[in-house]
Amino acid sequence: MLPRPVAAVLPPGMPADDPEAAGAVAEWLLSPAGLAHGAARRYLAFLKLMYETFHAVQEGFLLLGEERDRAPRGAATSALELLYVANHLYCVDAAGVPGVLLECGTYKGFSACCLSHACGALGRKLVAVDSFRGLPEPGAGEPDHYRRADFGGSLEEVRENLATHGRPEAVELHEGYYETSLAGWDRPVALLWMDVDLYASARAVLDGVYPRLSAGAALFTHELLPEHVEAGAIVHDREPPGAIASFLRQRGREHAAAHVTGCLGVVTFADSVGRGSHRLLDALLPELRDRDHRARAAVEAIGLRPALRDLARRRLRLGRRPGG
Ligand SMILES: C[S@@+](CC[C@H](N)C(=O)[O-])C[C@H]1O[C@@H](n2cnc3c(N)ncnc32)[C@H](O)[C@@H]1O
Repeated sequence: MLPRPVAAVLPPGMPADDPEAAGAVAEWLLSPAGLAHGAARRYLAFLKLMYETFHAVQEGFLLLGEERDRAPRGAATSALELLYVANHLYCVDAAGVPGVLLECGTYKGFSACCLSHACGALGRKLVAVDSFRGLPEPGAGEPDHYRRADFGGSLEEVRENLATHGRPEAVELHEGYYETSLAGWDRPVALLWMDVDLYASARAVLDGVYPRLSAGAALFTHELLPEHVEAGAIVHDREPPGAIASFLRQRGREHAAAHVTGCLGVVTFADSVGRGSHRLLDALLPELRDRDHRARAAVEAIGLRPALRDLARRRLRLGRRPGG
């Protein structure tokens, strides 16, 4: 639940790995006694910096959005969801789990921009793999609402967005459908982050990458809804959660799934470091949203409605010089 250097400074008797104690641990971390420790200060500073940065990136993407039905913000995830991934990356990094942060599912690069800041801060590499031409043709059994080329962001668009909103020096981009681009993948993966929409795509990612998941690694997926999980088991047999569950069952790999926030879920193994990291972040979140940012919290709560996007656009127009 906690990064190891932070767990090491907890007072005796305070459990570092019991999600039920997350509230008490958060309270202690934010107290003068907790803040007296450099490890606690560094962890909280990382979270605060990522919280602010991811929201700044989100505001930039808000202005990019096309009039598209499925991803009007030019992004299919949220700053908050990605903060949970970054928080877990901190745990993985602090424990020295070897490998890259692998992103499968990039679209226009919103999640890659956010996570590039986390990787840049920690000195990790983010590798983003995508067709850069959207979804492949959905096969039988995939949800009806997906079409070939949905969520298409080109390599040039993603490069440009990374240069504008991210840390491109922390990122490698690899182009190609997973069925071929990830076959023979041979680099260690410290954390796998998937946002691929389709059962077949999730299956292709795992076929390619699973053998190189480092000991201590975990995987985050963007299509895990609360009703897809019961008592730590994935109970949905379609879409990426279904693919993950059936893949791991076939290999006899014990795992536990949890819904995190929004559409984000995490799957951990007995050896995963940072299990339950999301429960601690739940408890720290009110403090990360400082008192001046209530409006921002309200935006998160209502999910960046189109009216707000239009307001942002109008403001931008008003800010332009005549003829500019
Ligand atoms: C929902 S979008 C990702 C959204 C992105 N994470 C964000 O934050 O905006 C899904 C992405 O998965 C990619 N994708 C899905 N299946 C794929 C496959 N089999 N091979 C390569 N890319 C695939 C699509 O090209 C698309 O970019």
